[in-house]
Amino acid sequence: MNSIRVFAPATVSNVSCGFDVLGFAMDGPGDEVQLTLTSDQEIKIRSILPASVKLPMSVEKNTAGVAVKSLLSAIGSKQGVDIELAKNLPLGSGMGSSGASAAAALVAINELLGNPLSRNELIPHAMEAERIACGSAHADNVAPSILGGFVLVREYDPLDVISIPIKAKLWCSLVHPHIELKTKDSRKVLKPQILLTDAVKQTGNIAALMIGLMKPDSDLISKSLQDAIAEPWRAKFIPGFDEIKKVAAAHGALGSGISGSGPSIYALSETKVIAQKVGDQIQAIFRKNKINSEVYVSAISDQGAH
Ligand code: HSE
Repeated sequence: MNSIRVFAPATVSNVSCGFDVLGFAMDGPGDEVQLTLTSDQEIKIRSILPASVKLPMSVEKNTAGVAVKSLLSAIGSKQGVDIELAKNLPLGSGMGSSGASAAAALVAINELLGNPLSRNELIPHAMEAERIACGSAHADNVAPSILGGFVLVREYDPLDVISIPIKAKLWCSLVHPHIELKTKDSRKVLKPQILLTDAVKQTGNIAALMIGLMKPDSDLISKSLQDAIAEPWRAKFIPGFDEIKKVAAAHGALGSGISGSGPSIYALSETKVIAQKVGDQIQAIFRKNKINSEVYVSAISDQGAH
């Protein structure tokens, strides 16, 4: 085999209380890459579709290119590779777009080389891509896009990523308003120091969310989906944010918040029917604010890039 096509899913990161440490994978949408081994020693981005997507073709600046380069250099390989990218996820959306391209490219190159690295060992290479795209090497999008499921980044140095054995059957409504918000900008508004009282709230909620997901306990999940450290500063980027949260709860969502660094909104619900309804209601609020949006409804997917 010298060519392979890999799909990597969109992800919801932070999940309210887990800034930079929690994320989960959707079934779809996602990015796709076609990787082909070549006989020269170069990595090339051959094409990015659709043509309207403005992404760098340079390997050093494109997340798929950066990730593949990082992996090949780590294993001491001079293998040549052609990369074709089908960029389905919108840029600056909070849906893990930059991470999905890197995740797909890494799973593809690893497979073509006979899987020299484990899935977990791919994550640091995807983080290098995030560093280039967002100015910060966070793992809470790339880890679930590579591994699937619900993940916790317990520690960054050294990296320790844990797949959470969740028992709760949850459906996610992911609503993407047509506003672009760069992660770099969305991180600039955060405070480098947080209040002790906020740290106490956040740790309590994240621990309770883990218990709620594993028991499962819907009330506990619902109570824990709160964010004291990022959402209060980022909410201003999202028109109608307070109303969105109220409406999501009123229509049966267990909780809702900003997906990743925004502007997309995620909500978690116990059934697909509720998730669809909640997604439609969030969309209606964006519409009221004269903003078009898409609604995606998906279970938390066990499947990472494939
Ligand atoms: N945890 C990151 C942030 C995710 O909130 O900035 C970026 O999508």
